[in-house]
Amino acid sequence: MYFIHKASLYLLLSSFFFMSVVIIAPTRRTDHWKASFEKLYPNETLYTWPDVADPESVECALCWYHPEGSLLEFPNLKLVSSMGAGVDHLLKDPKLPAHLPVTRIVDELLTQSMNTFVMACLLHFHRRFFKYERDKKAKIWDIDTIPEIPIKVGILGIGALGMALAEKIKGIGIDVIGYSRNVKLHEQIPCYSGAEGLKQFLGQINVLVCLLPLTRETEGIINREMLMQLPEGSCLINVARGKHLVDDDLLWAMDNGRIAEAYLDVFHTEPLPKDHPFWERENVFISPHMASVTNPDAALPQVMENLHRIKNGLTLWHQVDVAAGY
Ligand code: GLV
Repeated sequence: MYFIHKASLYLLLSSFFFMSVVIIAPTRRTDHWKASFEKLYPNETLYTWPDVADPESVECALCWYHPEGSLLEFPNLKLVSSMGAGVDHLLKDPKLPAHLPVTRIVDELLTQSMNTFVMACLLHFHRRFFKYERDKKAKIWDIDTIPEIPIKVGILGIGALGMALAEKIKGIGIDVIGYSRNVKLHEQIPCYSGAEGLKQFLGQINVLVCLLPLTRETEGIINREMLMQLPEGSCLINVARGKHLVDDDLLWAMDNGRIAEAYLDVFHTEPLPKDHPFWERENVFISPHMASVTNPDAALPQVMENLHRIKNGLTLWHQVDVAAGY
């Protein structure tokens, strides 16, 4: 006679009949994700790590800077998804189970937020708003300065998000070009790739927008050598990751006039430490990594669709090439 303990029977049945999702995001607010999940999927369960009553039932993990090794707590995991567009925080975990597919979020709302944020920054530079803010403080009415700085924008890392942004920039009559590791073709946006292409790209722009994925190759890419290739009085907008930028090299480039203004939404350490020199710089705009924040109502259906796809042997949406790092 076979004897199955009541508790094991429950676990066995629960892994057949109840599937659940876990959200592992210890540094981030998750209550709105939970509310959205409960509204969209009232019959499914969403756990918030570390409070997971039934780890065996978890088939999908939604992560944002998850603690290293935490995914190993879920033996029946089928899918790991970033809660945003970037996946560097997932791929840096040496204990990320190698057999699991990794996906990221690509959606119109995220793209729209990125577009409006970067446009606001480059127009702020183009229309000299820092100067007029300073003038206001000193009650200066300056009608003599030419009010627009001529700009040509370069998007470093022109992928899905970057191309959508370039089209919007072009749409308001501002010159824009792109650079990416792999060759990209677009009828109206000139795109460059390769080492020689990078030189040509940097040699013709005065607003550099970083939208690169963070990988071993791109860490520290915005350094003295790169900034030196921009003309005097240029503008840097970093909306990718803090680690793309060598902070001291930006301070150096601002001190010698190469970079006139920097718009930074991402930092090596977040929140930006109170004693960081960026806080003291008048021409450095600082925002708290909010350029484009995922909307759970838009993201969750993608994740749940991918879970359905994986169970049915269908191609996943927005799957990451783990070896390439994006
Ligand atoms: C934001 O930084 C994201 O990766 O979505």
